[in-house]
Amino acid sequence: MIKVGIIGAGRIGRVHSESITKYVKGAEIKAISDVRVTEELKEWAKGMGIPNVYEDYKLILQDPEIDAVLVCSSTNTHAPISIEAAQAGKHIFCEKPIDADVGRIQQVLAEVEKAGVKFQVGFNRRFDHNFKAIKDAVVNGDIGEPHVIRVTSRDPDAPPIEYVKVSGGMFFDMTIHDFDMVRYLSGSEVTEVYAAGGVLVNPEIGKAGDIDTAVITLKLANGAIAVIDNSRKAVYGYDQRAEVFGSKGAIQTANDTPSTAILSNVNGVIAEKPKYFFLERYMQSFADEMACFVDSVVNDKPTLVNGNDGLQPVLIAIAAKKSLDEGRPVKLSEVA
Ligand SMILES: NC(=O)c1ccc[n+]([C@@H]2O[C@H](COP(=O)([O-])OP(=O)(O)OC[C@H]3O[C@@H](n4cnc5c(N)ncnc54)[C@H](O)[C@@H]3O)[C@@H](O)[C@H]2O)c1
Repeated sequence: MIKVGIIGAGRIGRVHSESITKYVKGAEIKAISDVRVTEELKEWAKGMGIPNVYEDYKLILQDPEIDAVLVCSSTNTHAPISIEAAQAGKHIFCEKPIDADVGRIQQVLAEVEKAGVKFQVGFNRRFDHNFKAIKDAVVNGDIGEPHVIRVTSRDPDAPPIEYVKVSGGMFFDMTIHDFDMVRYLSGSEVTEVYAAGGVLVNPEIGKAGDIDTAVITLKLANGAIAVIDNSRKAVYGYDQRAEVFGSKGAIQTANDTPSTAILSNVNGVIAEKPKYFFLERYMQSFADEMACFVDSVVNDKPTLVNGNDGLQPVLIAIAAKKSLDEGRPVKLSEVA
């Protein structure tokens, strides 16, 4: 049984806490920390059976009984906390993105390498049952050589403007998962990016310097071409689909719905809307990524989403932003 400390008790820190407590065998949570320790957080932690709640994450890093930490705090803290955690000899699960700055990511990866600790990045969608089924079919050769990868990723509603202002932009905050999905499903590296973007959902997002709608085409080293389409607002719910088309066929997935019931009446044939958002849609993947991380630590296996998997989508996001700003295709070699 390994002992885990969680840094950041917001939305995702609590999701991972629940996964470890309820689904993952071989790990228990010894402490959780957050810069804002409220009575509500203390009560919640008590209910989860977490014995220690700290304001200062350093108390977690100083605890010799703690084997691994989950870095679930705000994005700008991921790199410095991961570096300190590696230096303290803790295995690390780091939420996405590691950082928006390539130099800082490289520093993190160098410290992880030096310390010889496990490092997994939170690209949970690789563990989603639908996307994993596509990946398995590609790896089995069921669709032959991949030629076209399509990823549709649309949120049910735009985030608050205050969030948009500190999010780092849509490519770093939202599309980053889709950049990872293209690498995962194709089994290849992105070499060139061409991004078109617009503000069609909320003009305030444009005033904050971001976009809310995008189509991105990507060229891959194996010759395949990928296309991602994003929107911050799909009125029918969280639209999360993918397809790989290849020399021997194609495989695609539909959205998950709360039930598969279909109502047929005089008005038409009506199915349920997709599950509302990531907390509803991706719970299974969050639990499985945690189980996988714990398995890597307990059984000394390589993590399934490693440091380079954390770095590459950030490089692609930087290239996509440059492409959008300059209105031209950008090679990854220009930003690497
Ligand atoms: N993989 C996914 O699908 C997914 C989903 C949501 C969020 N995330 C990522 O997880 C991170 C957190 O997102 P969230 O939605 O949980 O945000 P959140 O704002 O709900 O939670 C972040 C928490 O971290 C705390 N915090 C900030 N600095 C800290 C520090 N130095 N020490 C301890 N706690 C600190 C904040 O007080 C807050 O409670 C972000 O980087 C985000 O990109 C990933």
